[in-house]
Amino acid sequence: MPGSSFAHLVEMRLCVNIDHVATVRQARGTDEPDPVRAAVLAELAGANGITVHLREDRRHIQDRDVELLFATVRTYVNLELAVADGILSLAESWRPSQTTLVPEKRQEITTEGGLDLSQDPGRLKEAIARLQAVGSRVSLFIDPDPDVVGESAALGADAVELHTGEYANASDADAADRELERLRRAATDAAAAGLGVHAGHGLTYENVMPVAAIPECEELNIGHSIVSRSILIGMERAVCEMGELLRRART
Ligand code: PXP
Repeated sequence: MPGSSFAHLVEMRLCVNIDHVATVRQARGTDEPDPVRAAVLAELAGANGITVHLREDRRHIQDRDVELLFATVRTYVNLELAVADGILSLAESWRPSQTTLVPEKRQEITTEGGLDLSQDPGRLKEAIARLQAVGSRVSLFIDPDPDVVGESAALGADAVELHTGEYANASDADAADRELERLRRAATDAAAAGLGVHAGHGLTYENVMPVAAIPECEELNIGHSIVSRSILIGMERAVCEMGELLRRART
């Protein structure tokens, strides 16, 4: 929009992470709730993308879910994966349009901290190149640290996803402001280095707005809070429907 005071703002995409729909399904080992159906509903509600993390331990999303999502999703699938050979080979076979490399530990409840780029940069560089070779835009999930942003660009990534966990878990308003400033600075540095800027982790209906206002940020990945809220705002209707069946059985 030439001349608009909003011209510097890049368009923001909301990617809905549906891992925890699969978490509920896996708790029962049954076939509901189906994350693929959840993805369709999220898209119909206006999600710009669907994010899933295919973990090595397959604790929530399964290979079949990812295959079905690629066949069903009309926006795009952002496939999160660790730099691990088996998962990388699968991702290559699926040729996802976007991937996000994340750290992964077996015992963690959720992804803790960003990637440690210094640990094995050669391996990371090779993983990025392998995914790019099959047409994927590759993002790295990193802490909002200027050095790590620079290293991400040097490794050849297309984008970074800034870890918002420290911001989300800040103990008070001052700490949250400090974390927000780190995120703003990292976003500016990343955009200046030619990287796409994504963000996510721990974002909720209460804390999302200051992050969404960061001008360089073009994609937010939000999972737990949306899935949690959907259970609560869907509860009344779900109970009404079951109650209606009970009444009909007696009439
Ligand atoms: N981004 C990344 C890289 C993640 O690993 C996760 C959690 O799976 C998220 C975003 C979403 O975090 P949350 O579920 O807290 O919204």
